[in-house]
Parts: sequence; structure tokens; C-alpha cells
Amino acid sequence: MHDHDPEERFQAIIDDDGRIEPRDWMPPAYRKSLIRQIAQHAHSEIIGMQPEGNWITRAPSLRRKAILMAKVQDEAGHGLYLYAAAETLGVDRAELLDMLHDGRQKYSSIFNYPTLTWADMGAIGWLVDGAAIVNQVPICRCSYGPYARAMIRICKEESFHQRQGFEILHTLSHGTPAQHDMAQDAVDRWWWPSLMMFGPPDQESTHSEQSMRWGIKRFSNDELRQRFVDMTVPQAEVLGLRLPDPDLRWNPERGHYDFGEIDFTELFEVIKGNGPCNRQRMADRRRAHEEGEWVREAAAAYAAKRAAQREEVA
Ligand SMILES: [Fe+2]
Ligand SMILES: [Fe+2]
Repeated sequence: MHDHDPEERFQAIIDDDGRIEPRDWMPPAYRKSLIRQIAQHAHSEIIGMQPEGNWITRAPSLRRKAILMAKVQDEAGHGLYLYAAAETLGVDRAELLDMLHDGRQKYSSIFNYPTLTWADMGAIGWLVDGAAIVNQVPICRCSYGPYARAMIRICKEESFHQRQGFEILHTLSHGTPAQHDMAQDAVDRWWWPSLMMFGPPDQESTHSEQSMRWGIKRFSNDELRQRFVDMTVPQAEVLGLRLPDPDLRWNPERGHYDFGEIDFTELFEVIKGNGPCNRQRMADRRRAHEEGEWVREAAAAYAAKRAAQREEVA
């Protein structure tokens, strides 16, 4: 590359579908937008541990408990990769957590719904992790290298999460009538919130257009939502469960499923902080952070000791 204008070089990489790396010049707005998105994603991973953590002690068997623990730990790991990816943009993880704790940064509203029965572990895995995969697979090709690479590993684990949720629901759905009803009730409650995970409709989405031009986002909210519906309907049939939408039907002209209108007024209430569990999730997160202070101190002291030892040797 013989041009020396950093802005032109940045644009050339984007136009070539290449990757921007931490050492590269990038427009301040690109950096800012990525920090916002990656941080919100990281926060969602760790807040997302709470609704399922709620059921670890009450899992119906040792096998289910071991699987659920592994899944919740995976989510902590996803948070870790993503905070590390955000740090390559020049922010500090502690600062991002402060912004989560004082409400300056958000996490996905899906985690502000309660987990009322064991079947919710199935519905979350199948629908919430399923929607997350549809959202995240295109991010594996995001223009920012560290974010794209973190996503590749995360998506592999998410597909395991989705299958374990499907398997829980399949077992319940083919169990006793009471178990079947429990599975159906969980799907009834999680279906619409899962569709809302793709964000507002395209004409109302504020960040989308610029993100598409920068190669951060590859498909619109409505395109991804449609993909999720098309993928999920045949799986519901295999499960023997009904999706709670009377308008859901195959449209041969479009080659897609049509579905009913989404009531976004509810989503906007949850985003504003008025969801069923917003306050509880934030209180639990702040408490976990305070109670973990000694761990962070010990880790920092250990790292400083190791660094001093290395200096002595050198
Ligand atoms: Fe995750
Ligand atoms: Fe997951």
C-alpha cells in the first residue's frame, strides 16, 4: 500500500473486506461504536449467567446440573474474551464494569425476564442462545479483527448451548402431560422476547446504517429476525411444541415464514429499566462485584510479584 493517508488506508481495508487490527489507525467514531457494542455484548454474557444460575441448585439430575454449570461457566468465558477484545481498543475493563454498574452502558434486555420453571432452561438454550447464534455468526466476519476472532470461538460454544436447550425441551415435551405443559408454557413466555433480541425494526434502528457501512454489522435486524424464525419453526415441529403466534405461516411467494406483529412497547419498557427483573439483576451484579474485590486484589498482587521476579532474573 503506497498511500500514506491513514483514513484512505482504513477505507481500503474495509472496502477489501479485510480486518482492522488494534495497531491500525481507525476513525474515532468507529472505535467508539465498537467499544459500545463489544462492551454491551460482554455485559450481556455475564448478566446472562444469572437467570440460569438460579436453577443450578435445583437441576433435576446430576447430569443436568453438570451440563448447566458448564454452560453458565461458558458465558463467563465469553464475557472474558469480549472484555479482552474491548481492551484492545484502549479502554480499561474496570471502567467498562463501572459503566455497567452505574447504568451508562446496557446489557441485553432478554435477561430481565424471570426463570420460573426448569423448562425455562430448555427455552433459554433453544431460543435465547439460538437467537444469539443467528446474531453472532455474521460477527465472525466483522471488520474488527479481535472481535471477529472472539466470536468464532463463542459461536462454537453457543451451538452446544442451543442443542442442550433443545434436548431439555424434547425430553419434557415427550414426558408426562404435566412436563409437556411446562415446556409449552416456557416456550409461550420466551418466544416473543427472543424475537425482540434482534432489536427494533429496521426503520427505527439508530446504529445500524453506519455499522453496516463499516462492516461491523452484515445483515439488518429484520433480516436476522426472519432467519431465526425460518430456522426455529421446523425445530418446534420436531419438539412437538407450538409457537405462540396465530399469524405464523409459511409464505410460498416469499419463501419465508410470515409472523405476527411484535409488541415493541414492552421491549422499550424493559430497556428503560422497568422489566420484571432489571433491579434484581443489577443489584446481584453489583453485589458480586463487591464480593469479588478480594479476588481482584489478590490477582493483581500475584501479577505484580511475578513481574518483579521476572525483572530480577532479567
Ligand atoms: Fe454466550
Ligand atoms: Fe450461550
